[in-house]
Amino acid sequence: MQENKQKILIIGSGGREHSIGWKLKQSEKVGELFFAPGNGGTLELGINVDIKATDIKGLIDFVKKEKIDMTLAIPDDPLALGIVDEFKKENLKIFGPSKNASQIESSKAFSKNFMSRHNLPTAKFEVFSNYDKAKEYFKNHSLPVVIKVSGLALGKGVFICESLSEADTILENILLKKSFGEAGSEVVIEEFLTGPEISTHVFTDGKSYSIFPVSQDHKKVGEDDTGNNTGGMGTIAPIPFVESGLIKSIKESIIKPTLESMREDGNTFSGVLYPGLMLTPDGPKILEYNARFGDPETQTYMRLLDTDLYDIVNACVEGNLDQIKINWKDMSACTVVLASGGYPENYEKGKIISGVKEMNDDSIVIFQAGTKYDSDHNLVTNGGRILGVSAVGANLEEALARAYKAIEKISFEGMYFRKDIGKKTLERNKL
Ligand code: AMP
Ligand code: GLY
Repeated sequence: MQENKQKILIIGSGGREHSIGWKLKQSEKVGELFFAPGNGGTLELGINVDIKATDIKGLIDFVKKEKIDMTLAIPDDPLALGIVDEFKKENLKIFGPSKNASQIESSKAFSKNFMSRHNLPTAKFEVFSNYDKAKEYFKNHSLPVVIKVSGLALGKGVFICESLSEADTILENILLKKSFGEAGSEVVIEEFLTGPEISTHVFTDGKSYSIFPVSQDHKKVGEDDTGNNTGGMGTIAPIPFVESGLIKSIKESIIKPTLESMREDGNTFSGVLYPGLMLTPDGPKILEYNARFGDPETQTYMRLLDTDLYDIVNACVEGNLDQIKINWKDMSACTVVLASGGYPENYEKGKIISGVKEMNDDSIVIFQAGTKYDSDHNLVTNGGRILGVSAVGANLEEALARAYKAIEKISFEGMYFRKDIGKKTLERNKL
C-alpha cells in the first residue's frame, strides 16, 4: 500500500513543526515527509528542503516537482503573505487560513477593529499611526497602558508601560524611528488587563470546530514572569483550574462568535485558530488571535492528541471536520524550552548539544528547534530556542518532574531554561 501513502510538506523550522511531523509520522496514511526548511530534528523524520518558508514560488515549484499531496503552512509569515491563496490558485492542497483570514493575527489593528465591530470581549483600545495623536491618548487614560505594534513582531512588539516617559519613548521608537519597520506603521494602545493567561486552540474547517485542551505558555524569559518577552519558554496542558463550565463559556462567548463573524465578514477561517485569552475578574477577554498553532503549545498538544493528525488536517482542508471525533489522552503534558544563553537578545550559535540521542525515558520526547548538524555531524545550536523537552504524566506535577529530570541529562554551552514552568498553576490548584 506504500504507493497510496500521502507525501506531505511541512513549512517551518521550529519545535512546533518537528512535533507536527512526529505526530503525522504515526499515521498509517502518511508516507514521505518533507520540511522546508526544517531543522536538525526533522531530519530524523524526513527530508529537509532548503527553501525558505516565505519563498512561496519556490515552494510551489517544489510541490509540483515532487508531487506532494498536501502542504501544511505552519508559521505566521507565509500565511500573512497569502501562501494558501497562491497554492489554491494552482490547485494544490494546503492546510491553513487564507491571507484575508490570517489578518486576524498579522494586523492587530484589523483584529481589534474586528473584535469591537462584533462585540467580542477584549481590552478597550484605540489605533494610531500619528505620533502626536497617540501621545494625546495618555491625557485621558490611567497607567499602566499597553502599546502594541500592529504588524507581526515575533512576540516582541508588546510593551506594558508604567510611566508616561516610558510610553513616550516607546511610541517615538515605533512611530518616528520606525524600529519595527512597516510592522510598526500603526500601533494599538489599550487598557491593561489582569488575570491568568491561557492559550486556546481550535481546529476548524470554516464551518465546524473542535477545541483542544486549554494550555498555558510562559512568555517571559525570566522566572516569575520577569524580563523580556520571548516566543515562549514552556507550556503545560490541560490547565487544572480551567473547568468545563469555563471552557463552555469560552466556546460560547469567544470561539463560536469569532468563527461566525469571520464568515459573515467574508473571511472564513480554516486551519488552527489560537486565541490568547486573559481570565480577568470580568470574564475571559481576548488578548490576541493567532492564525496558526502556537509554539511551544503544539509540542505539548502533540503528546496528548489521540486521533490521527492526518485525518484531522485533511478534514479541515476538505470541509468535513464534523465527520471526525477528536480525542485527547486523559493525561497531562508539558514542554520546557532549552534556549541559548542571551536569548531573546544576543546569543552565540554552533555549540555542541549532548544528551539528546541518549534519552531513554518513554515519557519524554525532545522536539528540536534551533538545531542543525555541523560538518563533523555534531548536533549544534543554531538559534535562540534550541530544544523543547516534553513529558507526559498522570498529572501536571508528574509530567513536570519528568521533564526537569530529563533536562539534567542534556547540555550545551550557555544552556538556559526556566525552572518554574507550571509552578504558578500548580500553586493555584492547591489553594
Ligand atoms: P500579545 O502578543 O498581544 O498576546 O501580547 C503579548 C503579551 O503581553 C501577552 O501574553 C500578555 O502577557 C501581555 N499583554 C498583552 N495585552 C495585554 C493587556 N491588554 N493587558 C495586560 N497584559 C497584556
Ligand atoms: N506560544 C506563543 C505563540 O506561539 O505565539
